[in-house]
Amino acid sequence: MQNFEFYNPTKVVFGEGEIRRLSEFVPKAKILLLYGGGSIKQNGVYEQVKNALYGHELYEVSGVQPNPTYDKAMEAVELIRREKIEFILAVGGGSVIDSAKFISLAVPYKGEPWNILTNHEQVYAEAIPFGCVLTLPATGSEMNCWFVLSRGDQKLSAGSPLLFPKFSILDPKATLSLDRRQIGNGVVDAFVHVMEQYLTYPNNAPLQDRFAESILSTLMEEGPKTLMKPTEYEPRANHMWSATMALSGVIGAGMPFDLATHAIGHELTALYGIDHARTLALIFPAVMWVMREEKREKINQYAERVLKLKGSDQELLQGSIRKTVTFFETMGLPTKLSAYQIKEDVIEKVIKRFEERGITLLGERQQVTMNKVREILRVALQ
Ligand code: NZQ
Ligand code: ZN
Repeated sequence: MQNFEFYNPTKVVFGEGEIRRLSEFVPKAKILLLYGGGSIKQNGVYEQVKNALYGHELYEVSGVQPNPTYDKAMEAVELIRREKIEFILAVGGGSVIDSAKFISLAVPYKGEPWNILTNHEQVYAEAIPFGCVLTLPATGSEMNCWFVLSRGDQKLSAGSPLLFPKFSILDPKATLSLDRRQIGNGVVDAFVHVMEQYLTYPNNAPLQDRFAESILSTLMEEGPKTLMKPTEYEPRANHMWSATMALSGVIGAGMPFDLATHAIGHELTALYGIDHARTLALIFPAVMWVMREEKREKINQYAERVLKLKGSDQELLQGSIRKTVTFFETMGLPTKLSAYQIKEDVIEKVIKRFEERGITLLGERQQVTMNKVREILRVALQ
């Protein structure tokens, strides 16, 4: 196991009806309510939040889009600076929460705030505190300190220990209005988050491995139920907590990380606008295949322990890719680029974008060279 520091100060308040306790967690201060395109007005979450915060001085910025943009976030930065707002309440999915994180750092930032995304060497002294009401289980943003933001055709990520939410309220009922597409996306995003911390190489960390395996099994069992029984609370509750645990730092403590799938996926979103999780469903099976030698031991472990497969290395590899693909497709996510009419020219487009940013190696041991990325995209084509 590698040395690690584990720090996660986010208070999680989980369960039906907990939004009504909001005023216990927000300060008596000017609050910015930040939300997306209006789903919270349709499903009653907006009303619940407003009722819970009756008497507080509230400002609002709405219209945060999926794959949130710098320009929208800067609208909120300016409002907060102008009105001297002291707390942000993000109500929505990963896009709203990620925007809140950027805004939180950008308000006191001296200089061009986009540099927060491009210069990762910076250490921050202050950030505006924020809390979340989560409406879409997927990214884990509600209990981690990372965020992703887009500007033009750039989609970049950053993080800071200052960016853990003060609290996150997770009411599975607030997610019952999600459509099938967002449910499927949420389950697959969480699944791949776990895989990127698990499917690397043996690291003498049986506890982290078993944490990871338990989340993978839970998502494989509960994910399809969330689609088959879209009005039921329990599968959604299990999905929600699995997604939060997948990227809260617990299962990754002391573990190698393989962010190749996310790195390539972000480029596909930036180039073609494909939903974040959908890019992962395209790339992850291809990473398993192309990096099969480097990942052999963990692929075998996944096959035997999570998928209950038996057989030779070759059988375990083929069986585990097949079952993973079937799971993604059961959740409604295509696993080949041809489903989006994307052709071979994607390969050099993605490589060029990595090279422009000086990225030449990816993966847990920096073994995913640009030629491997080419191979991964070729396998993902059809
Ligand atoms: O905007 P509204 O109207 O609210 O609609 C949203 C949006 O259209 C809708 N939605 C959310 N909750 C709903 C709902 N519709 C009905 N009922 C509800 N309860 O869902 C749509 C997608 O929302 P979005 O927030 O974009 O989805 P998600 O949570 O998947 O977030 C994706 C973003 O998070 C980033 C991704 O790159 C992407 O930009 N990620 C952030 C990470 C992090 N901070 O740790 C890690 C992830 O790997 C990911 O990269
Ligand atoms: Zn993700």
